[in-house]
Amino acid sequence: MAIRRPCLLLVLIVSTGLPIGCDWQLPGKPIRPAVEKIDSRADFDRMYFVNCLGCHGPEGKQGPARPLNDSLYLASIPTATLESVIRDGHGPLMPGFKKTLSGGLDEKQIAALASGMKHFWGDPEAIRAGKDIPPYSQPSGSGDAKAGAGTFATYCGACHGADGSGLEDGAGSVVDNDYLLLVSDQALRSTVLFGRPDLATQSMPAGCPSYRGPYKGQPEDASLSASQIDDVTAWLISNRTTVSEEAAR
Ligand code: HEC
Ligand code: HEC
Repeated sequence: MAIRRPCLLLVLIVSTGLPIGCDWQLPGKPIRPAVEKIDSRADFDRMYFVNCLGCHGPEGKQGPARPLNDSLYLASIPTATLESVIRDGHGPLMPGFKKTLSGGLDEKQIAALASGMKHFWGDPEAIRAGKDIPPYSQPSGSGDAKAGAGTFATYCGACHGADGSGLEDGAGSVVDNDYLLLVSDQALRSTVLFGRPDLATQSMPAGCPSYRGPYKGQPEDASLSASQIDDVTAWLISNRTTVSEEAAR
């Protein structure tokens, strides 16, 4: 097995926001030949390794960005959405990978990467049961931030503090504006939906729970309803103050 090493350009990409992947080419260097076959496991692994591993981790787990190798996540996100995230990027920190003069992925490769994630990492049973999972995207106009504050205090407060500002012996703040400015609305909703099992700590070995819990201090089988998910997401977003909002004060 090849030794996986973190992508050295990662720091550069994150710090400059350049829309490039890890197979970035110097200007004037010949463009690498297009990948001919893109439907085998080896081709999927290679495309993932070159473009995504630096941020999403080996096998889609334990990188700085959200785990993608998660059957609940893959059952929920529509394939077309997955493709558009890869094509156009996501939030302030993830670059898009669409074909440019200096590299990138063409439409066939984008489709192969998206379907490869579902096919090689997804759980067909969970994908079939996908209709029972709350929607990946926040339904437009939904979410009551005020109600969400109460739901947050009940289900999330034992770890993050009732007001979300963090607990010394628990999890960190989710209302810190520097954090909120770095993540998209969907990233917040995705955390409410799918949790962050990768961000485990000694006292919280399961990391942040998915909407199915278990929530510390609540009954084992407590889970969030679709409208509670919308409300908590709306409340998290409502804590963000953008630069222009700040200036208008
Ligand atoms: C430079 C780091 C970086 C690279 C490279 C990168 N991502 Fe991301 N990705 C992120 C970050 C950070 C987020 C969360 C962004 C946000 O929404 O705030 C993200 C979000 C995503 C999401 C959406 C998560 C959600 O909340 O639903 C998907 C899907 C995704 N990435 C897939 C990929 C794939 C596939 C690749 C390779 C083609 C890739 N990413 C490459 C950093 C990266
Ligand atoms: C069992 C304890 C626990 C509970 C309950 C919990 N979390 Fe977390 N949460 C964590 C841990 C651990 C982390 C990662 C470490 C940290 O942020 O301190 C985290 C991180 C987060 C993050 C930041 C993710 C990122 O982008 O880095 C958000 C947002 C979040 N939680 C929201 C919630 C919401 C909303 C709820 C309730 C619906 C909730 N959490 C319930 C433990 C918990």
